Amino acid sequence: MYASNEVHSCIQKAVELLGLGNQHLRKIAVRGDYTVDLQALEAAMVADRAAGCRPICVVGNAGTVNTGAIDDLQALVNLCVREGLWFHVDGAIGVVAVLAPSVKPRLAGIEKADSVALDLHKWMHLPFEVGCVLVRHAEAHRQTFSLTPEYLEHESRGIAAGHTWFSDYGLQLSR
Ligand SMILES: Cc1ncc(COP(=O)(O)O)c(C=O)c1O
Repeated sequence: MYASNEVHSCIQKAVELLGLGNQHLRKIAVRGDYTVDLQALEAAMVADRAAGCRPICVVGNAGTVNTGAIDDLQALVNLCVREGLWFHVDGAIGVVAVLAPSVKPRLAGIEKADSVALDLHKWMHLPFEVGCVLVRHAEAHRQTFSLTPEYLEHESRGIAAGHTWFSDYGLQLSR
C-alpha cells in the first residue's frame, strides 16, 4: 500500500490490522507543498513490482493533519485505474470542503475513489465520533466483514430485523 509520508497514522494501523505488516506500507516523499510526489510514487511501484511485490492500494490525502495538504487526487485516480489498484481517499478532515465551490476543484478525482473516509465530528461539528467510511463496492465490503453465527442471524421481524447490520461492514459488533 502506498501513501505520502504525511498520511495519518490510522493507515499504518489499517495495514497492520489487515495482517500485511507495516513494512508493506510505502511512505512516499512529498513535494514542497506537502503533497505526494507522483514520480517517487510511480518509481516505488515499479521497484516493488520488480522485487516481486504486488501493489494493491493507494491512499490519497484530502487534507493532511499537519498542513491540510491535498494530494493530486485526479493523478492518483489515473494511476490506480492504470495499475488496477484500490484508491482510498483519507478525507477525514478535508472532504467536506467539496461543499465549498471555491475549494471543490482541488478535490477533483475524489468522486472516482473506491473508498473515502470522512469524520463528521470535525468541520461538521457533529458529536464525537461520527467517523465514517464510504465504500463504493457494497457487496465486496459486506463479504469482507460479514460473519454470521446463529446468534447473529438476521431476522425478518423483531429487534433483529432489517438489512443493514453495521457489524457486517466492519470489525466492531456492538461497540
Ligand atoms: C486526516 C485524518 N485521517 C484519519 C484520522 C483518523 O480518523 P478516525 O479518528 O475517524 O479513525 C484523523 C483523525 O481522527 C485525521 O485527522
